[in-house]
Amino acid sequence: MQTKIVRIEDKTPVREELLADAARILREGGLVAFPTETVYGLGGNALDADASRKIYAAKGRPSDNPLIVHIARMEELEPLVTEIPESAKRLAEAYWPGPLTMILKKSGRIPAETSGGLDTVAVRMPADPVANALIRLAGVPVAAPSANTSGKPSPTTAEHVIEDMNGRIDVILDGGAVQVGVESTIVDLSGDHPVLLRPGAVTVPMLEKILGPVELDPVLTKPLGPDVHPKAPGMKYRHYAPKAEMILVEAGDEGETETDCNGPEENCGSMRVVKEISRLAEEAVRAGKRPGILATDETAPLYRTGEVRSIGRRSDEASVAHNLFAVLREFDSIGVDIIYSEVFPEDDLGLAIMNRMNKAAGHHHIVVGKDGSASETLGG
Ligand code: TXA
Ligand code: MG
Repeated sequence: MQTKIVRIEDKTPVREELLADAARILREGGLVAFPTETVYGLGGNALDADASRKIYAAKGRPSDNPLIVHIARMEELEPLVTEIPESAKRLAEAYWPGPLTMILKKSGRIPAETSGGLDTVAVRMPADPVANALIRLAGVPVAAPSANTSGKPSPTTAEHVIEDMNGRIDVILDGGAVQVGVESTIVDLSGDHPVLLRPGAVTVPMLEKILGPVELDPVLTKPLGPDVHPKAPGMKYRHYAPKAEMILVEAGDEGETETDCNGPEENCGSMRVVKEISRLAEEAVRAGKRPGILATDETAPLYRTGEVRSIGRRSDEASVAHNLFAVLREFDSIGVDIIYSEVFPEDDLGLAIMNRMNKAAGHHHIVVGKDGSASETLGG
C-alpha cells in the first residue's frame, strides 16, 4: 500500500481542504494517522468493525486491547454511551477538548471490535486543531490507538509514525511535534467511584478538584503480578519499551539536609545518582557495551561516558514528558546496549512520566544509599 503523507504547516487555523481527502478515507473505512496534543493517533471509523480490525493489523496489536474513540463535539458523546453520568459532564466541562479519556458504559453502536469485547467504551475529545477538524469533517467518531507498532514508544512526531506505519496505512497527516508527549489520562467512570487507569497531563489533583477522591488502579505503582490485574487491558502488555535494557537509578530516601548538596563532598541525592550512573556506564564500556544515559539539562554536563541525552529540565516536567518517547526512540536508532536513567518525583505530571519509565524499564531500579551503596530491585 502506498501511504500518502500530507504536511500541515499551519494549524491556526487549519486549511480544511488539506484534510478533506483524509476525512473521506476515514468515512470509507480506511486508516489515517493524525497528530493529537498527546501523541499521534492511528485512526479508523469507530463504528466500522472492519476498520478496527485493520487498525489492530497495522499495529500488530492484540485485538482484546480496546481502542479510544475520539469525538470533536459534546453532542457526539450521547449516541456512544448508555448514559452520561454527572461526573463525566463536569470533567468534560473542565478538561475537554484535552488530554483526558473517560471510560463509560457503551451503547449498541460501538462494535465489539472497537471496544475489545468490553461493555464499556473509552472516549476522548482531543484539542489539537488538526485532530478536531479531521474528526468533524469525517462525520464519524474516530477510533485511534497511538500510531506506533505495538510494543514501541508512542510516536510524538510524524517521522516516528512514518518509521512504524509507512506502507501499512492510507494517509499520514504531518502536523509537526506534539505538545504533551505522553498519552492521555484515562479515568474510569463506569463504576460507583472514579478510578485512574493511566496517568497523563490531566493530573490527579486536577481530577480530584472536579470529582473528589480518585482511586489509583494498583497497576500504576506496582508491577503486574498474581495479585495485580490492570483494568485497562492495554496496561498488561509490555509497552513503551526500548530495544535496550533500561535501568532506573534513584537516591534512597533517608533524610537529607540542605548542606548535603553544598559541601565539598556533594553528597546530595542527585549527585549520588550522577556518580552511580557514571560508574555503571564506565563498567558497561569496560564490558564492551555501549551505554545510553537518560539525563536532564541540569545533570547532562556532569556525565563523561556513554551516549548522554537530556530529556528536558528537571525544573519543568512538561519538557521531560514532551521529549521522553523521542529520546527512547533515538536510543533504539543509535543502537545502545543498555540505558541508565535518572528518575522524577511521582507527583502531578511526574506520575505519568514515571509510569512510562517504569514500563520501559520493567520496574528495574537501582537505589543508591547515602553511603554510596547500591541495591537493586526488579519489579519492585
Ligand atoms: O493520548 C491518547 O490517549 C492517544 C491518542 C491517539 O489519543 N491514544 C492512545 O491509545 O494512547 P492506546 O490505544 O495506545 O491506549 C488506549 C488505552 C489502552 O491501555 C486500552 O487498554 C485502554 O486505553 N482502554 C481502551 N478502552 C478501554 C475500556 N473500555 N476500559 C478500560 N481501558 C480501556
Ligand atoms: Mg498505545
